[in-house]
Amino acid sequence: MSSQAKCPSRGGYEGWIIGESSPERSIVLFSQGSKPRTGMYLLVETDEGCVLGVVERVFSGNLVIGDKVRDHEELEALTRYPDLRDRTYRYGVVQWITLLGPLLSRQTPLSPSMPPEPGRHVYRAPPGTLSLAFRGSGPEWVRLGRLVSDGGVEFSINVNKLGRHLAILAVTGGGKSNTVCVLAHRIVGQLGGTVVIFDIHGEYAAAGELVPGRTGVKEPKINPFSLSFPELLRLARVPENAHNQERILREAWKALIKDYRNGTFQMKPGKDFLGHLAEYARMNVPPGVKQDSLYGLLNRLDDIRDYYGGVLDLYAPSRLEHYIEPGKLNIIDLSSVDEFGADAVVSHYLRRLLEERKRWKTTRGARGYPVPVIAVVEEAHVLIPREEDTLTKYWSGRVAREGRKFGVGLVLVSQRPKNVDQDVLSQTNNKIILRIVEPQDQRYVQAASEQLSEDLMRLLPSLNPGQAIVIGSMTRIPALVQIDLCPARTGGTDIDFRREWEQYHENTGRDVLEEISTL
Ligand SMILES: Nc1ncnc2c1ncn2[C@@H]1O[C@H](COP(=O)(O)OP(=O)(O)O)[C@@H](O)[C@H]1O
Ligand SMILES: [Mg+2]
Repeated sequence: MSSQAKCPSRGGYEGWIIGESSPERSIVLFSQGSKPRTGMYLLVETDEGCVLGVVERVFSGNLVIGDKVRDHEELEALTRYPDLRDRTYRYGVVQWITLLGPLLSRQTPLSPSMPPEPGRHVYRAPPGTLSLAFRGSGPEWVRLGRLVSDGGVEFSINVNKLGRHLAILAVTGGGKSNTVCVLAHRIVGQLGGTVVIFDIHGEYAAAGELVPGRTGVKEPKINPFSLSFPELLRLARVPENAHNQERILREAWKALIKDYRNGTFQMKPGKDFLGHLAEYARMNVPPGVKQDSLYGLLNRLDDIRDYYGGVLDLYAPSRLEHYIEPGKLNIIDLSSVDEFGADAVVSHYLRRLLEERKRWKTTRGARGYPVPVIAVVEEAHVLIPREEDTLTKYWSGRVAREGRKFGVGLVLVSQRPKNVDQDVLSQTNNKIILRIVEPQDQRYVQAASEQLSEDLMRLLPSLNPGQAIVIGSMTRIPALVQIDLCPARTGGTDIDFRREWEQYHENTGRDVLEEISTL
């Protein structure tokens, strides 16, 4: 099919092009019977062929009741005007997206270069045409939901483009976790893909077997011998100006790792990793460093044990694929650690995924991590913040830049987009944007998204849960989508306070409820 394709044969028209157009936008006056909605797809014939566009905004007015009326009695009289409703008009702004030919023949969409002529009819794009445009055209396409404008039309995304990363952004309750659930479910369940979710609040972990037989819920564990020194420093929270403490820790770490590599490290019964590290610190105080600094450091090591002793585990798998298992949905339950611990765990595994995938590539599969991975980072505004430096910010930046080459796709999830690092956010070529209310968040998202026009942005506050604007290379053209409800529901629903109080009293077996109701 050439790009010169004619519009598919059609029923009645929806309206006419009026006023001045550009190749990107037109004003359409809708005919009386038309029920225009935002997100509706329209076609217009031009000299270049049939062009597909989407309604971005709709306005309505009445010829009889203008906006200059101020007199109540006059208005009363006007409302009695015969056939008042027939004098209602609707017009809308339509964004022209692509010539239809390339879209239907699965080539790269091609923007029109000529504006449609005034007076031309516009037509509703038939469901069959939209299905061809939005349905997957190969096994790498998975279903995400349906078009909001045409509920019968399935919407799929190209999973191979997740190497160019994805941001899922919305207010709390907008439908982010449900979207992650749908994606993970389809990628693992349908394609046998590998996904890891860094589950800050433990909500996915609580949801159980999201993909039956292929879900692994993991405690946050790091084998200490796979730590990098900056990770250890971050865990110990050694302040930046505490140079002596840092030096002692560095020497202790070097000595310990050396023994481990030489096979001379001896694990003493009843002593955990931090106990061993403390011993190495005592034995390796560099010359000229005061004992005070040593005690300061030993206190910090005790603090690590108090905060997240369980995270550093000598028995944790040292091979990455024993922790993040290929072909599975791996849920790392971070609900038991604070944000410092979460930062250490998330950055550690992002770093190792990237390094091991590089190793896989450079050794042609002899060593390294054997399959591409999609890594989901929830609460991205905390772990990848705009204002501070965190290890996760550094490593997600690296993954954002290099992950595509090596097969690590990053999925950022946040309800505070304006607090997410702009650099990392802009590297996410794909976006699923659900309801966003805050103007600053909207502007920030728009600045990080090429395809999000002012008009599309205006839609964001009025989206219902699960309704999303999907943009980026994983979709052929931007779309307004109703995301499917995840077959395996995630948590995150509100606590039923009343019910849980009632249960408490039922369980304690006292007849308080009756007393209460008589108060
Ligand atoms: N695609 C959807 N279709 C219908 N309802 C949805 C959809 N997504 C979310 N919801 C509703 O919104 C609630 C919150 O969704 P959730 O994904 O937990 O939001 P978030 O993670 O953004 O806070 C869900 O419990 C569900 O009732
Ligand atoms: Mg959520």
